Amino acid sequence: MSHSDIRPAHTPSVEPAAAARRAATMRAVVRDEYGSPDVLAVRDIPVPALGEGEVLVRVHAAGIDRGAVHILNGRPYLMRLAGFGIRRPKRPGLGSELSGVVRAVGSGVTGFAAGDEVFGVGRSTFAEYAIADATTLAPKPATATHVEAGAVPTSGTTALQAVRDHGRLQPGQRVLVIGASGGVGSFAVQIARALGGTVTGVASTAKLDFVRSLGAEQVLDYTAGDLATQAHERGGRYDLVLDIGGNRSLKTLRRLLEPRGTLVFVGGEGGDQITGGLGRQVRPTLVSRFSSQTFATFWVARPNTADLETLARLIQDGQVRSAVHRTGGLSDVADALRSLEHGQVSGKIVVTP
Ligand SMILES: NC(=O)c1ccc[n+]([C@@H]2O[C@H](COP(=O)([O-])OP(=O)(O)OC[C@H]3O[C@@H](n4cnc5c(N)ncnc54)[C@H](OP(=O)(O)O)[C@@H]3O)[C@@H](O)[C@H]2O)c1
Repeated sequence: MSHSDIRPAHTPSVEPAAAARRAATMRAVVRDEYGSPDVLAVRDIPVPALGEGEVLVRVHAAGIDRGAVHILNGRPYLMRLAGFGIRRPKRPGLGSELSGVVRAVGSGVTGFAAGDEVFGVGRSTFAEYAIADATTLAPKPATATHVEAGAVPTSGTTALQAVRDHGRLQPGQRVLVIGASGGVGSFAVQIARALGGTVTGVASTAKLDFVRSLGAEQVLDYTAGDLATQAHERGGRYDLVLDIGGNRSLKTLRRLLEPRGTLVFVGGEGGDQITGGLGRQVRPTLVSRFSSQTFATFWVARPNTADLETLARLIQDGQVRSAVHRTGGLSDVADALRSLEHGQVSGKIVVTP
């Protein structure tokens, strides 16, 4: 990429060489190996090169989601085989979500221009600049700050696709969101409400008020005993169960589900080191054929402009908001990831590089 590619259209022509030199490097969170947050450092590295169909964004905010923890420690190991690098990470950077301002566009990009405010999914977004495919960006919702918009892309897209596409929620249905206090769950509660569901959220004791504040009509405390027993005391089974947190067996989850209900496996920690939560999805796929209940497997969310636009509309209409636990700079990313691993976050932490 030439220096002029990364200069904004409105940069004054005085001292262009000095401005370009400054813009050609950036601060970024990097690592050379898989491991704990201790392996992270903030370094000056070159601004990434722009390719065909790609957009260079000055990152104003980047949400931290669970995916960053997995990519940091390289587990489950299956993901190493899926292209992240077998022994060492192929890419030193971390982070997928962003909200920011377009700095330059690659060849073939028609929908975006320098100066546009955008949000979406990019690569190595815990940095001052990041590259995103144009197909995973959308205009930032006008009513949201960069911090609010930066919390949305991966978590919000996952929640939307889980509720609407895999869960096929119909108005009036009863929905159980297991993991309602987390990044994905905080959006899933609100999206399910927006689509006409009656929502019960599951979280730990200290986060139940937070889940109520998102719009859940009822809450269940997973630390207070068997969920099915608690659910049956509060009105029975659910038409749709979103399994986003914990590591419950299919048998346990089926007890929460109406005979013709749908169970969507979104994620959950504590699975085996090789396949993680994905291994749990194989058996339900087979059992689903012989059951009146539907078990929807949700391998990975697929970010795209249309779904980001839907999320932006829900935000602008006031039906969905980002729950931002706290913000921090690039040097706070390691601590933020530790907080996430230890279950100390309600909603999302957002980095402002
Ligand atoms: N399929 C996909 O494409 C996709 C995309 C994004 C994420 N994911 C996966 O989805 C999962 C959630 O991601 P996230 O970003 O929302 O994570 P997160 O912010 O860390 O949230 C985790 C949630 O799980 C809850 N939880 C923890 N232990 C639990 C238990 N034993 N029973 C019930 N709930 C429990 C937490 O509740 P408390 O905090 O109250 O303890 C919290 O609400 C992760 O496994 C992630 O890898 C999958």
